Amino acid sequence: MSELSLQCFKQFAEIVYKNSGIHIRPDKKSLLQSRLTKLMRREKITDYKSLLETLESGREPRLLTEFIDAVSTNVTRFFREIQHFDFIRERIIPEFLAQKNREIRVWSAACSSGQEPYSVLIHLLENLPEPDSWNIQFLATDISTKVLKFAQNGIYSEEALAEIRPDLKMKYFEEIEAGAFRINPALSEKIRFRHFNLMQPFPFRHKFDLVLCRNVMIYFDSLTQKQLVDKFKACIKKDGYLIVGLSEALSKSDHGLQFVKSSVYQVKR
Ligand SMILES: C[S@@+](CC[C@H](N)C(=O)[O-])C[C@H]1O[C@@H](n2cnc3c(N)ncnc32)[C@H](O)[C@@H]1O
Repeated sequence: MSELSLQCFKQFAEIVYKNSGIHIRPDKKSLLQSRLTKLMRREKITDYKSLLETLESGREPRLLTEFIDAVSTNVTRFFREIQHFDFIRERIIPEFLAQKNREIRVWSAACSSGQEPYSVLIHLLENLPEPDSWNIQFLATDISTKVLKFAQNGIYSEEALAEIRPDLKMKYFEEIEAGAFRINPALSEKIRFRHFNLMQPFPFRHKFDLVLCRNVMIYFDSLTQKQLVDKFKACIKKDGYLIVGLSEALSKSDHGLQFVKSSVYQVKR
């Protein structure tokens, strides 16, 4: 495949930005090129210009989805950023216990292949007293249809489960063939996996107690981040929490959220 010109790079980057909010910096040109090369081989498209032309024409929504899938970064892990799990156990769960109702609404807003929502759900089930008596409403969304399918299937390699405590692995996963483990269907049924682009208006009728939007804002520019935080603020209950990635501290500009600790914010109205 020929070298991606700076002009074509800019046009691809513009399409990515318009459709996902992801800001691709010029120093990521060769990364974009290698991801596009794979996509174009699969789709039997021979040059960048015809890919650009088809994407811009809007004629093939499926190709646009494949394109966004190809350029998004989906790296994730079970129990990633363990400090957040400590915070949920030490601070959020006691606050749930102090409430009268036994309903918890959680949203994993960029859930990738499912490790984040499954980890949080397992953590809640392990730390709530009488977990079956709680109505846990769990939504997990992502812009990538590919990772969502993976998340819904809930089948992980031995390597992917390396971070999970052996007793939890035994309890919540079943080895379905050598080295492949399926999450207990009772767990995957508790999570609603949906395709959702964070750039769209939020359609929720009910507010959340906890929203996790970890390791995705880092790909957005500061204006997009600010607009997104405003939308999160509006969909989180009073005293509810927004958790972002550990390296994604929100800028101090008036986001109106209370800083609780690094990467954890609370809605105070
Ligand atoms: C690096 S992964 C983070 C996964 C998980 N939150 C974690 O911290 O391990 C980032 C995810 O954000 C998703 N993403 C990127 N832009 C998005 C958007 N505009 N709307 C929804 N999801 C998006 C990507 O598809 C990817 O799965």
